[in-house]
Amino acid sequence: MKDREVIERVENYLREKFLDRGDAHDYWHMMRVYKLAREICMAEEGDLQIVSLAALLHDVADHKFLEPGDTEEGKLAEVLDELEILGETRERIEEIILNLSYKGGTNRYEFDHLEGKIVRDADRLDSIGAIGVGRAFAYGGSRDRPMHDPLDKPKEFKDLQEYKKNNGSTINHFYEKLLKLRDGFYTETARKRAVRRHEFMEEFLREFLLEWEGKA
Ligand SMILES: [Fe+2]
Repeated sequence: MKDREVIERVENYLREKFLDRGDAHDYWHMMRVYKLAREICMAEEGDLQIVSLAALLHDVADHKFLEPGDTEEGKLAEVLDELEILGETRERIEEIILNLSYKGGTNRYEFDHLEGKIVRDADRLDSIGAIGVGRAFAYGGSRDRPMHDPLDKPKEFKDLQEYKKNNGSTINHFYEKLLKLRDGFYTETARKRAVRRHEFMEEFLREFLLEWEGKA
């Protein structure tokens, strides 16, 4: 089957399953990460098919959305079987997807190949900037988190369990995660974009906190 046909099949699958989600990990997040990953890949000269498929499918088995009893490995294998993605391509995609997630800063896995680096960079870029602000509040709302609570200070998480239990405010999430991402990009192409997005978030927070205090 041609590369383009596989991509189209995956896009159709994602549109069917993830279009109506309000938690910021929807079909459109997957498509933005796919577009960003392709842009970075063309500048950095990676394998475009591996990058495209891993980017499109990177959140289908995320720990945040599993049913009780499911594992990330099991869920991902199920999706790849359904989409008939097999062989060497599949192995590489699985390795990228299962090691991508930030997991509250507790994921220490480092990619030693360009394709993994590109997909992680693309996913992290979509967490910051104006899109990042929108996604943070959408996700916080979906989990019943307050926008802001000045009495609750940002935290450090020592493991994934602690991160999962956290129910702090969305504003804290900027300090706990989003503002820390700028210095962790692998590729030069993503790093340049991250600087602009980071500055936008800082500007947003300044304004938000001024308005919160009735000063603007
Ligand atoms: Fe993602």
